[in-house]
Amino acid sequence: MNLLQKSLSCFLLCLPAALSADNIPAYLDEEQPLEVRVEDALSRMTLQEKIAIIHAQSKFSSPGVPRLGIPEIWTTDGPHGIRPEVMWDEWDQAKWSNDSCVAFPALTCLAATWDEHLSHLYGKSIGEEARFRDKDVLLGPGVNIYRTPLNGRNFEYMGEDPYLASRMVVPYVKGVQENGVAVCVKHYALNNQETRRHTTNVILSDRALYEIYLPPFYAALTEGDAWSVMGAYDLYQNQHACHNKRLLIDILRNEWGWKGAVISDWGGCHSTEEAIVNGLDLEFGSWTDGLKGGSLNAYDNYYMAYPYLKLIKEGKYTTKELDDKVRHVLRLTMLTAMNRRKPFGSFHSPEHYAAARQIGAEGTVLLKNDGNVLPLRCDGKQKVLVVGENAVKMMTVGGGSSSLKAQHEISPLKGITYALRNKAEVKWVRGYVGDVTGEYNGVVTGQDLSDNRSPEQLIAEAVEESRNADYVIFIGGLNKSNNQDCEDTDREGLELPYSQDAVIEALAAVNKHLVVVNISGNAVAMPWVKKVPAIVQTWYLGSEAGNAIADVLTGAVNPCGKLPFTFPVSLNDVGAHALNAYPGVERTDGSKIWDVEYKEDIFVGYRRHDSEGIKPLFAFGHGISYTSFDYGKLSLSAPAISADDTLTASITVKNSGSCAGKEVVQLYISDKKSSLPRPVKELKGFKKVSLQPGESTTVTFSISRSALSYFDADRHEWVAEPGEFQVLVGASAADIRSRASFTLK
Ligand code: BGC
Repeated sequence: MNLLQKSLSCFLLCLPAALSADNIPAYLDEEQPLEVRVEDALSRMTLQEKIAIIHAQSKFSSPGVPRLGIPEIWTTDGPHGIRPEVMWDEWDQAKWSNDSCVAFPALTCLAATWDEHLSHLYGKSIGEEARFRDKDVLLGPGVNIYRTPLNGRNFEYMGEDPYLASRMVVPYVKGVQENGVAVCVKHYALNNQETRRHTTNVILSDRALYEIYLPPFYAALTEGDAWSVMGAYDLYQNQHACHNKRLLIDILRNEWGWKGAVISDWGGCHSTEEAIVNGLDLEFGSWTDGLKGGSLNAYDNYYMAYPYLKLIKEGKYTTKELDDKVRHVLRLTMLTAMNRRKPFGSFHSPEHYAAARQIGAEGTVLLKNDGNVLPLRCDGKQKVLVVGENAVKMMTVGGGSSSLKAQHEISPLKGITYALRNKAEVKWVRGYVGDVTGEYNGVVTGQDLSDNRSPEQLIAEAVEESRNADYVIFIGGLNKSNNQDCEDTDREGLELPYSQDAVIEALAAVNKHLVVVNISGNAVAMPWVKKVPAIVQTWYLGSEAGNAIADVLTGAVNPCGKLPFTFPVSLNDVGAHALNAYPGVERTDGSKIWDVEYKEDIFVGYRRHDSEGIKPLFAFGHGISYTSFDYGKLSLSAPAISADDTLTASITVKNSGSCAGKEVVQLYISDKKSSLPRPVKELKGFKKVSLQPGESTTVTFSISRSALSYFDADRHEWVAEPGEFQVLVGASAADIRSRASFTLK
């Protein structure tokens, strides 16, 4: 027993609360069941202490119960690295010199690996960084579904498909929490755009809610056992998501039976009474004027602070709801800050950099490779011209709350130059001028990217240099400034900004060995797609960006990423835009609320492309390799099953090319006849296999009732209707290699 425990137990001897065998209070005794400890702590707390523990005391922390030695909770963004310290009550940098982290690849990249092991590695690594920095709650991962390619925060999420996002989020959650650090899964729910995110009221069918938007949250919270969730900014059923009865009480608590803590998004709480009755546990980020201008303490004026206390004192509420909130916060505290068995973590270790590099390379997607332009073949004599701002731009700073202060960041140009040292002469020219700011919340990249030349001059220079190059690698795309991939704003269109299309067209006209590397968190239009032989899609890859990109370009890593969302040819191919269902319609009642109706319903991403017969630019699940894979014939374990049986589907996959590689084998289910309209097919399984040249393997999947069901809103249950189903296995949603039918009896 340590000194604190001793003095505490002496002090508490006079209290009626529970003591365990060796006389330490039950709430401090880790041998006791969690719920016993929570109840014991709760029984010792005063009303004021209960109120204090359910709201912030600073930008990122809540106060705990100092008298009882119950520690503070420290949160941190999330979700790609550990955010640098800001001031107690200001967004300005605290200017610590020990807080530069490893920036891991954006979650779009993780989703594009389609690899659950890598997701666990990611969670474990970032969890270790959080733990070392003494953080209790990591504000992430994000799993809002990719509804439109304009959403400025898609880069923080895991794509358009609920099954893929569900499978990929669970190992991340487990990996983080193995460190005694909680995840805070965000943003629950329906925060699918940034435009007017605080005043948008989402209208959608229950079917779309349950089939498309909730599954990744459900998986993270129940199967992953996430210890906290973050309420979103938007409204649903005219109530803010942070204190939304349907989302938090009916679904989260009553249907899912989840016991974790509901944390508000920063400034997402708007009403004391709704917060009291509708399940918000911990309020963060409500506007304060800081400690300087506030009353005694500006945090006392939070919705869940004095205003709540006042209502209790006036007799409007008892402590019933308050006690539940305190229970949830105590539970979170005991699993994290009060967990004496947790490991110590580690910070910018070689293992973390290696993980970031591997995930970055394996999430990179080779979209096209005509004439096998890639991998680069250099033997000392070649000239490689790299063109484009994103080849040199530091991308870890920016984008909003996920902005990081990275210990180091390898730019694509650096990575390529290093990988080709002694093999090629590498030269860079600008090509276009995009965003030259490089600052977020006082973290600066220190790069001076200003350039006064006109677009014509920049293109002329790039074209001139391209003529004599053996390879031209254009590295562009989006960045993390406003109206690009950035929190609080959406993109204004699908096109590449800064006239990059003109640069690419000009390069394609003079050099046949052109590779376009697009860095973004969203799909972009590619009007030049037929003129460019090789196209690589990659993401905000963080600290090891350049090394990961070079690994793929040189073939050190054979590309094996697959798109986690559809690349549409134009916005009109996306339901939200085709149906005029984005970004919403302002109400005429002066409330300043915008209603956005998800008119496309369940037909998001490839589901709409399939049902409307629209050919995508690049399909969901697409991604090629430097080798090739042959698929055999799909076989099913039975021609018919009953609802409680499991069907096994097997297929042989062979590496038919000349180098080792990995393939993501995807399984889709098609319900041939149903009483409700269903998508043509839906992803219900995937496996990533690694094969040597000539090697083959048999991939097996289990198909159970859940893979066959739709959500029947009238009955409020999942229904698997008897009849014929088809199993489709392939290399993408548009590249089905084999299919077989069975009957559900
Ligand atoms: C974002 C959250 C973030 C929080 C704290 C909010 O603006 O929406 O995702 O975790 O700020 O920085």
